[in-house]
Amino acid sequence: MVKAFKISKSSSFLHHTILNFIVITCFTTSTFGQSDSDTPKTSLGEELFYERCGYCHGVRHPRIFTKEEWISITDSMFELTAVDEEEKEIILNYLMKNAFDADY
Ligand code: HEC
Repeated sequence: MVKAFKISKSSSFLHHTILNFIVITCFTTSTFGQSDSDTPKTSLGEELFYERCGYCHGVRHPRIFTKEEWISITDSMFELTAVDEEEKEIILNYLMKNAFDADY
């Protein structure tokens, strides 16, 4: 009786180990099997926008304002931000391309 119990215990342990192995293997292949092309590429304008405009408050999605609104917003926000003329142009370009009324 005791012997039978021991055997069944160890075989169920083995069973579990094999099952775990299968589950873990499936999980890791599905997680790491994804290709890099799934990750969206960020543009320089988007990067600068998040970097320069995101440290006082969260950034708003470009789509929620029109081009005209972004122009007047950035007009005051650029004064608070450490951006040079070139970066201003890149950020503004990015916002114009992704604004609510952008022509895309
Ligand atoms: C030095 C801190 C600081 C930085 C950097 C900054 N902001 Fe702001 N921003 C504020 C503050 C404070 C307010 C709220 C007061 C106001 O409206 O003037 C604000 C408000 C805003 C609003 C208005 C939110 C609304 O719902 O109307 C927008 C949009 C915005 N910022 C965008 C930007 C953009 C784009 C940049 C980058 C060019 C930027 N901010 C950089 C401090 C900052």
